Amino acid sequence: MKPIAMVTGADGFVGRHLIRKLLSCGYDVIGTSRSPHQTAHDGAVIQLSLDHSPRIAEVLNRYKPDVIFHLAGESSVRRSWNDIRGTFQSNVMASINLLEAVRMSDIVNSVKIITVGSSEEYGIIPDHVSTIDETLPLQPVSPYGVSKASLSMLVKQYAGVYGLSIVHARPFNHIGPGQSLGFVTTDFAHQIVQIEKGLREPVLKVGNLSAKRDFLDVRDIAEAYVLLAEHGRKGEVYNICSGVLTEIQSVLAEFLQMACVNIRVERDPALYRPVESRYVRASNRKIREHTGWTPKIDLRDSLRDILDYFRQQ
Ligand code: GDD
Repeated sequence: MKPIAMVTGADGFVGRHLIRKLLSCGYDVIGTSRSPHQTAHDGAVIQLSLDHSPRIAEVLNRYKPDVIFHLAGESSVRRSWNDIRGTFQSNVMASINLLEAVRMSDIVNSVKIITVGSSEEYGIIPDHVSTIDETLPLQPVSPYGVSKASLSMLVKQYAGVYGLSIVHARPFNHIGPGQSLGFVTTDFAHQIVQIEKGLREPVLKVGNLSAKRDFLDVRDIAEAYVLLAEHGRKGEVYNICSGVLTEIQSVLAEFLQMACVNIRVERDPALYRPVESRYVRASNRKIREHTGWTPKIDLRDSLRDILDYFRQQ
């Protein structure tokens, strides 16, 4: 019999890529979404609000998944500054509802759960730290980061106290075709394509270009999640990162080189954040050693795919 994977947030950017990957790896997939709509993949997507505990229990008892990938939640750091309550409801309370439902279910001793945190959990990186590994204390600076750090602490408790088989993933910036607007690569690519099509003045609005991030293609992230489900160790946290820091300025430069028109760049103060996390190089040693994962897609190829995605819209 094929293993059954349940994916919350199935209609989201990562959910769609993960479901494609799971299907190609031989899983049966049950995707869940607050409001399912037409998706590009072949997996079934059912309606499930994680605010409604009885319905979560019903779904778990009906489908009896072998593994749950919990992707649903708020993914925008920028939005979290304007909706702190909503961010906590989506990232913390909804996760508690899911974990409680698992704890009370028939599958409590058999199911494996992958929760998704973020590099934003680390937040303030002390000056003496040169590499971000999983042992670094969490000092998040954004409401989003605090919500994901709270989730990672809860995960430790559910694994340690209740014995749930949970692995917490800490992905860094994931990018790729199909991501919504509001993230740096999609905001840049979308404007460039609008300019190419003559739909706006040849002026690209940008925020903080001196920030640095560790970018990974969403398809590499999806593969990491599957490997964590198969080989990740209970109660452990895993960075998912490339190990390479890239300045936002360089992302912009790559995009401008790929653009078919000349574009003027203008800084927009509205795109700056109240506080930015400072990033240093991150380590992916633990996930490599425990699962054999390694990132495969080059940043340049991801950026080209994102631009082409918008050109085809
Ligand atoms: N969104 C956006 N739009 N960011 C910009 C822009 C712009 O026009 N110009 C510059 N930036 C800068 C931001 O200030 C930030 O320093 C950096 O680009 C990346 O911003 P985002 O792409 O919005 O990502 P993020 O780092 O805040 O959060 C992402 O990565 C996290 C993991 O590291 C999200 O994908 C999170 O869900 C994820 O957890």
